Amino acid sequence: MNSAGAHCCYVLLAAVALTGCGSDEPGDTTPAEPSVDWSALPAVTHADEELAPLGERLASFQRICARGRADSFATALCASGSPPPLDDLTDLLALVDLGSGAARAFALTGNSTSLVARSVSSINPRIIVFPRVGSDLVPPATMTAVGFVRGEQFVEIVSRDPVTADLNFYLLSFEQRCSYEEGGCDRASLFTESIERDWTAYSVYDHQDLEATSFDCLSCHQPGGVGSKRILRMQELESPWLHWFPQRLGQRTESDRVLLAQFGEAHAFESQYGGIELDTIMNALDEGSGAQLEALVRAEGFAHQPNPFDAQIALETKAGESPTWEARFEAHLRGEAIPVPYPNVDVTDPVKRAAAASSYASVVQGAATRDTLLDLRDVFSDDASARLSFRPWPGADGRSVLLQMCARCHDGRGNPALPKNQFNVLELDNLSRDVKNRAIARVTATGLRQMPPPRVGTLTPDAIAAVVAELEK
Ligand code: HEC
Ligand code: HEC
Repeated sequence: MNSAGAHCCYVLLAAVALTGCGSDEPGDTTPAEPSVDWSALPAVTHADEELAPLGERLASFQRICARGRADSFATALCASGSPPPLDDLTDLLALVDLGSGAARAFALTGNSTSLVARSVSSINPRIIVFPRVGSDLVPPATMTAVGFVRGEQFVEIVSRDPVTADLNFYLLSFEQRCSYEEGGCDRASLFTESIERDWTAYSVYDHQDLEATSFDCLSCHQPGGVGSKRILRMQELESPWLHWFPQRLGQRTESDRVLLAQFGEAHAFESQYGGIELDTIMNALDEGSGAQLEALVRAEGFAHQPNPFDAQIALETKAGESPTWEARFEAHLRGEAIPVPYPNVDVTDPVKRAAAASSYASVVQGAATRDTLLDLRDVFSDDASARLSFRPWPGADGRSVLLQMCARCHDGRGNPALPKNQFNVLELDNLSRDVKNRAIARVTATGLRQMPPPRVGTLTPDAIAAVVAELEK
């Protein structure tokens, strides 16, 4: 970007910050002036190819707000009629009443089976921030929960409608100053604290907008299929919350000892992670824990989770293989459910993790230049990559690969009006030649048309050959 462009952004940011203060005045009933002017911002140079066609910035805001939803996120977002200034992640948490205070809780996980699974480990954990629930498990009056992992320029949000009790899912995708640079944002802008700060603009989508894309929230949060109830998810609902940390409430877990320590080592030189002070994360007793997320999920009525990570898995794994885990994994391989979290505490290869963590600490401290930063996502062990279905099970035949790698989005549960639902891997024998041919084209494609979407997993050359042979039958 040229220097004139950079100057223009800077002035805009200052203006955004000023109006932000003005509209916070209590009792101020005058209709807010448009508080942000995104129209003068340059275009994003490397926009997400699936999100961009859905509309961006103001257009996306207006579409969401025109839906008139009553959940607490939509209510706060749409209150003034124009997009509230969100300069950083902390602003977003404050907007939904998840700023600091007794009413808020948080939990981090070092292994996710969610949309962002491939980004998550102890050194780049996913954080969930949510309202705190008491031991009486009375649901909070309003419920908005926020999920975030570094490396992705978006925040995932779920919010309950107080009248219908329906859960609405939102993706808030934000821009940073580097978003306008020719090369886009570098790793350091995406993986360090920078990603949580100095947002310049945002776009917002809901589960309806995203249904036709690989972001489809419903493919996991509506496991009963089109028209059924949308749910919160937490497969490791019960103690010992093998991948959730911190965890010192009631009992200190292995996840707390191992994963929190790995996290703390990598992030020692920063002040916050996921909008929460690092000190708060490292010393949390009650405010941060998997136990708190369990309480919320139970209070909201989702104690029964599809293919849960049963409490005995951790115990069985200590003694060798876990038959309980194997049974859950088999259900996933049959295309019946999303993967089950990894049976061991740490998903990383220790050598890769150590290299990434030390590269990270050096860059954050200024001892190494930003361009030397290793990819914090490139830390998974081979075993974890296979068991989390980032790639097909070694040696699997074509049918098994299709069930493992495609069923989540192509099992016939989705909205029948969408073309993607014509391809149903549970009905392989009944698919037309035409549909099978389209599938062959997609597994051998590259770029945007490649299946499965790279966010989910990658097929090996052997797996592609096996799939093509199956589909040619
Ligand atoms: C691949 C399955 C999958 C997809 C797709 C998915 N989620 Fe989730 N989501 C999960 C799982 C599993 C969890 C539990 C924590 C974890 O494993 O990271 C979760 C947790 C969450 C949470 C924390 C509250 C809770 O339910 O525990 C939010 C918020 C959330 N997801 C929002 C979204 C939004 C918004 C989308 C769509 C943009 C989405 N999710 C898409 C699987 C998914
Ligand atoms: C994360 C969800 C997801 C997974 C997993 C996934 N797909 Fe898709 N697929 C989509 C979406 C979204 C579309 C529609 C958008 C598009 O065409 O790119 C689609 C479209 C398709 C289509 C085109 C259907 C049509 O006729 O329009 C085919 C064929 C397909 N996928 C095959 C596969 C195969 C084969 C796999 C597994 C190897 C797979 N997909 C895995 C999300 C997914």
